[in-house]
Amino acid sequence: MTGALRTTVLVSGSGSNLQALIDAHLAGRLNIHIGHVISNVAEARGLRRAEQAGIPTSVLKHGDFADRDAFDRALALLIASCKPDLVVLAGFMRIIGPAVLQPFRGRMINLHPSLLPLYRGTDTYQRALDAGDERHGASMHFVTEELDGGPLISQVVIPVIAGDDAASLAARLAPMEHRLVVATVELFATHRVECCDGGVSIDGRIHAMPLQLQADGRLHP
Ligand code: GRF
Repeated sequence: MTGALRTTVLVSGSGSNLQALIDAHLAGRLNIHIGHVISNVAEARGLRRAEQAGIPTSVLKHGDFADRDAFDRALALLIASCKPDLVVLAGFMRIIGPAVLQPFRGRMINLHPSLLPLYRGTDTYQRALDAGDERHGASMHFVTEELDGGPLISQVVIPVIAGDDAASLAARLAPMEHRLVVATVELFATHRVECCDGGVSIDGRIHAMPLQLQADGRLHP
């Protein structure tokens, strides 16, 4: 597609968010070209989803490398060979080091299942429940050296319901994450967002707070 945003997606698991991007593209709602899907897990279902959509895939197993830095350097080279405008970490369960961050700074975004800055890292659903939170959600942010700590672009909020456990919360959040990832990547495909001076500029204006996904599937301040 002419002018399509060249996108590389990194996955480690189910790849349902990758599928949301593929589906939005196929439906003509997202002007992207997913040129490559990369995983650190050979069995990741996300790889099968990519193959079914005719997208080239690569597996880079971190266990095959001498150390973290060697893996990062190989990953950086592989991503660079795809010449992406945008790199989307969609359930990529691996901490990324400077060798990957530096070449793609401002062009790499991550989906995280919490209302950042709350609950960086793992077990976010249980941690929200343990804290008695009334709301949970997901965030998309630029990737920086700080784990789940880069500038926030967008969020979606869901209520915690009486009787929720981590599994029910995750199941209810998943479809909202799919909408969030599509709406956020659309910001890039339409050249509306960039990372600047540690913040996020949307439509030329610095936003201190992330955009919120609304019921109409759009992101609003
Ligand atoms: C999502 O919950 C995302 O927030 C987290 O990993 C999960 C990925 O799901 N980082 P999937 O592989 O896209 O189905």
